[in-house]
Amino acid sequence: MLRLENLSCGYGPVRAVHSLSLAIAERETLALLGPNGAGKTSTIMAIMGHTTIHGGSILFRGEDITHVPPVKRVELGIALVPEGRLLFSDLSVEDNLTVGGYRHAMARDHTNRQRVYALFPRLAERRAQIASSLSGGEQQMLAMGRALMAEPKLLLIDELSLGLMPKMVDLCFDALAALRKDGVTILLVEQNTTRALDFADQVCVMTSGSLAFSGSAAQTKANDRLFDVFVGAS
Ligand SMILES: Nc1ncnc2c1ncn2[C@@H]1O[C@H](COP(=O)(O)OP(=O)(O)O)[C@@H](O)[C@H]1O
Ligand SMILES: [Mg+2]
Repeated sequence: MLRLENLSCGYGPVRAVHSLSLAIAERETLALLGPNGAGKTSTIMAIMGHTTIHGGSILFRGEDITHVPPVKRVELGIALVPEGRLLFSDLSVEDNLTVGGYRHAMARDHTNRQRVYALFPRLAERRAQIASSLSGGEQQMLAMGRALMAEPKLLLIDELSLGLMPKMVDLCFDALAALRKDGVTILLVEQNTTRALDFADQVCVMTSGSLAFSGSAAQTKANDRLFDVFVGAS
């Protein structure tokens, strides 16, 4: 589904990611872990097309998208739930969803909206409410819903659980599990490493902009030393 080959990227001349290679198979969930400043968000931003590429390539379903504009990537089937949610805070729940689905015909928009409301009944109850008046967990649900309006095949999620109450984290992971069951491929950046390891199939750990470790989630959990060094410490 997605392959990064020796990807180096950053912001103008600043380099944030150094020669990173990783791959996610269709329907698989990959957890991207690592301490603050490791380059996780920059990697996600590169996949969306929002960084300066210094080298290497990004392949999506076999197609080289390294220099494809961000809007085209959304059309190809990649959507982002950004760190900090970045909702349109003055717009209603309904209107935030409209923005996420703006490229689709009305009929599709209606179906997608119903899917989002079925996944997150709390959003359906609050559909006329202004985004800024939602709780943190509801805002995260809306950020996920907005991304789903684009009908992604690959969903990139940056810091799903950050700042959320445990109950809300549960609801967000439940939704993610339902999406995975529907065949969506997921790249998850998550500071709750235990949670991420329980959910993901594969794990990549980054430190200082480079890949420090990659393996299956089961392998990582089973190996205490690996867990402590790469995961427990972060
Ligand atoms: N907009 C930016 N301009 C310049 N440097 C940035 C920008 N965003 C992040 N960085 C730098 O890139 C590196 C990786 O950051 P980031 O990808 O946000 O890490 P993470 O998401 O793992 O915490 C850090 O050194 C950070 O300071
Ligand atoms: Mg980040």
